[in-house]
Amino acid sequence: MDASTDRDAGDGAGSVAPAKRVFVKTYGCQMNVYDSQRMGDALAAEGYRPVDSADEADLVLLNTCHIREKAAEKVYSELGRLRDMKQEKRADGREFLIGVTGCVAQAEGPEIVRRQKAVDMVIGPQTYHRIGEAVRRARAGETVVETDFPAEDKFDHLPMAKPKVTRKRGVTAFLTVQEGCDKFCTFCVVPYTRGAEVSRPLARLVEEARGLTEAGVREITLLGQNVNAWHGEDAAGSPIGLGGLLRTLAELPGLERLRYTTSHPRDMDDDLIAAHRDLPVLMPYLHLPVQSGSDRILKAMNRKHTADEYRAVIARIRAARPDIAISGDFIVGFPGETDTDFEETLRLVRDIGHAQAFSFKYSPRPGTPGAELPDHVPEAVKDERLQRLQALLTEQQIAFGRSKIGETMDILLEKPGRKPGQLIGRSPWLQSVVIDQPIGEIGDLVTVTVTEAGPNSLFAVPASSHMRQKRVS
Ligand code: 5AD
Ligand code: SF4
Repeated sequence: MDASTDRDAGDGAGSVAPAKRVFVKTYGCQMNVYDSQRMGDALAAEGYRPVDSADEADLVLLNTCHIREKAAEKVYSELGRLRDMKQEKRADGREFLIGVTGCVAQAEGPEIVRRQKAVDMVIGPQTYHRIGEAVRRARAGETVVETDFPAEDKFDHLPMAKPKVTRKRGVTAFLTVQEGCDKFCTFCVVPYTRGAEVSRPLARLVEEARGLTEAGVREITLLGQNVNAWHGEDAAGSPIGLGGLLRTLAELPGLERLRYTTSHPRDMDDDLIAAHRDLPVLMPYLHLPVQSGSDRILKAMNRKHTADEYRAVIARIRAARPDIAISGDFIVGFPGETDTDFEETLRLVRDIGHAQAFSFKYSPRPGTPGAELPDHVPEAVKDERLQRLQALLTEQQIAFGRSKIGETMDILLEKPGRKPGQLIGRSPWLQSVVIDQPIGEIGDLVTVTVTEAGPNSLFAVPASSHMRQKRVS
């Protein structure tokens, strides 16, 4: 995903001085989308309003992702373009500040300002609460590099969006409940860029979720790099896990749907699985990456589970919630992966049956143990394996979509479609659903019957009109 959240970056606060303008460009995961919004909220308090392009802005933030290959190089080439823009604007006497945030900022740190002198600010993910102060320092001519892991919790110091801003962002929202990771999978940079696992306290999360629902949000997706490792205390001081958090949030008036992502198989505990059985608001969709179906490769990846343990977890979840849709992530061509290992991955995919999945060729990330391993797999072999895996996953995704034809379900109306009068909603299983007939307002939960399934979306009609059509024909 490469979502530009320029329009999401706050509503501007300046009623006295002319508003300054910020463009936030977001790369990578949903947590970056959430972070960009929170930075936008903080900058709104500094008098910045969001704009749609770097060209219109006085401040540009690149909120970067480091998960894939050549991430840093892509950021440097984008910075080269921004440097040219800065020179032009400066020649016209205009202000133009450039900031780099996100995981590349954390990983590269001061190297960014050494390589690209036009950069004014480098701010790692754990210091976003200092963004307002950083911008003030940069405006005074300082080059700011903030990449430490401070003791204070950034979320305690970041302002919450005003209800008007939240409403503008839509009826679904993200809420980061956990950050960082202690699992240290050998291919992954996250434990280095986002740091150790930290859970936000229950009371803060309830407060933030209430703010969202009161502003009109109907669906909240809880985010964390390892979200099901979330742990905290309930109001009585007893320890609870993600299942307990979901049970608490499920009580919020106005909240129709809950989701969470991304989880680790080892942290799917009994209470969380039971929450899938007990909570109607918890949607029957689970993104639970397995990465590989070969025990040898899972061990080399330091995944801390076998392929059969993964199958067993899925069986327990399906026993609790039979209609749950499973999604995952896969890596092909991890160092040492043989044809036999890869066949094991295909076997696992066939056993599980995925509603959706993401698959990647392994790319060595500097500083991770995987990069130091022998027996790297040739690119051509990775390509071939990826194609075969993706063909199988696509087949499963199409079959899953088709299995819903004729089914009547509730969908949450999220946005207008491309054609006049068209609306786009989402099924409980995260499928996009297109409706051409009048059925309700954005934010409504409506009942539809699915008539058709494309590769990426479903088509539906209001449930009762479908019944009528059926009776007529
Ligand atoms: N190479 C390829 N894929 C990776 N991922 C993480 N690190 C790498 C890497 N070095 C994939 C994993 C993870 C997803 C977010 O990105 O599948 O679950
Ligand atoms: Fe990375 Fe996820 Fe493994 Fe943590 S559990 S190291 S975030 S792949």
